[in-house]
Amino acid sequence: MNEIASPELDWWTLLTDPDYLTDPHPHLKRIREKGQVHYDPASDIYFVLGHEAFSSMVRAPQMGRDTRLWTNGWSRPESKQRDPLSYELFSEFQRQMVNSDQPDHRRMRDVYEKAFRPADIPPLRPMIEAEARKLAEDLPDGTPVEFMTAFANHLPLRVVRNLFQISPDMDPKLAEWNAALVKIGDIMMSQEQKREALEALRAYKDFLRGHLEACRGNPDNRLIGLAIEALDNGIMDEDETLNNLKGLVSGNETTVNVLGNGLLTLVNHPDAMQKLRSEPALMRTAIEEILRYEPAINFILRVAIEDFDCCGTSIPKGSLALGLICAINRDPERFSEAESFDIARRPNAQYIFGGGPHVCIGAALARLEVEVALSVLLERFSRIELTGDPVWWTDRTNQRGLQSLPVRFTR
Ligand code: HEM
Repeated sequence: MNEIASPELDWWTLLTDPDYLTDPHPHLKRIREKGQVHYDPASDIYFVLGHEAFSSMVRAPQMGRDTRLWTNGWSRPESKQRDPLSYELFSEFQRQMVNSDQPDHRRMRDVYEKAFRPADIPPLRPMIEAEARKLAEDLPDGTPVEFMTAFANHLPLRVVRNLFQISPDMDPKLAEWNAALVKIGDIMMSQEQKREALEALRAYKDFLRGHLEACRGNPDNRLIGLAIEALDNGIMDEDETLNNLKGLVSGNETTVNVLGNGLLTLVNHPDAMQKLRSEPALMRTAIEEILRYEPAINFILRVAIEDFDCCGTSIPKGSLALGLICAINRDPERFSEAESFDIARRPNAQYIFGGGPHVCIGAALARLEVEVALSVLLERFSRIELTGDPVWWTDRTNQRGLQSLPVRFTR
């Protein structure tokens, strides 16, 4: 189970190849068969493809998320001269929980976690259902429609802006900023895209600064209230408060991917869709299986704070490690019949939300949105079928989602 240096494998070309981005599974299966952890000498990056290795990595205190510690990374202060734009962009968004190690991570996460406890999420169902029904009612009956632009792109955005009590007038702006920001974390980012992301980030933070002030004294706005309280009490400074809020508001992009990936997986498995119609109690396990089988993200990063032994592979301090989720979620050592889509699969230790201290804070909310959306669609339409070829995003290396999904809904 030792690290495999794979000089014959050009990782960078692979991870940016449109064929790979359209269907990474056969490529990753082949590579994972050779070992759980691979080292790429060209990029000096460790790639983690095994479930056991990823599981130990995300829980290890030696492995953090602060990329300033990555020896060869563009977020190190030393990189400022080499690539000033990247450094400026990184510095603008660095100070938030997802990019911090302990104790800063815990200090910030504690503030927001109070609004994402298991009991906080179910009361949001009526709001999510109302939004999903409105969108479903507008879907045409019996004629082809592009699902991403007609439904998936809107629902998570509307849910999150309701949650933060942001006006619906802001939908186009939020969508525009999110589209620019989705490139952050991507390994193929042009200088132009970096400039766009930086502009979007600053505009987002300006907007949130104003929103925060406008919401002062409104006791109904729980999330914003928690942010204001932490700011006023000196638990977070303004930059941390705004970056964390931005992270929460724009966390909806991955949920968009899950809606598209989920519907595509169901139309590609009509027997499973039929079974789900006749046994709606399977919805929870079906969602976990969608998240496992066709994950909405490609990789999750960690940086070694100290040397770490990852299932027999030594990851030295200062190294970057990327967990490749499509490989991890189909590891046959963890999942029986890993390549099959089984909506009743139990247990299902899929890793789309990461793990350890950074495990996605919005996981329960995302699961509820997907559950409500799929239930509303299955209930309203007796037939859902593909009417053309789905198109995957092939210019996003970090996220895995559909650019277009042509389908027909029939009542
Ligand atoms: C299906 C949709 C989603 C997916 C696949 C997803 C995935 C992830 C992943 C992989 C991480 C990093 C975990 C790690 O490094 O171990 C993360 C963290 C995070 N997510 Fe999500 N997420 C989703 C939805 C959301 C939503 C709806 C929100 C906001 C309401 C959100 C807010 C966050 C935040 C704030 C963090 C940082 C947590 C921390 O560092 O402690 N996510 N998410």
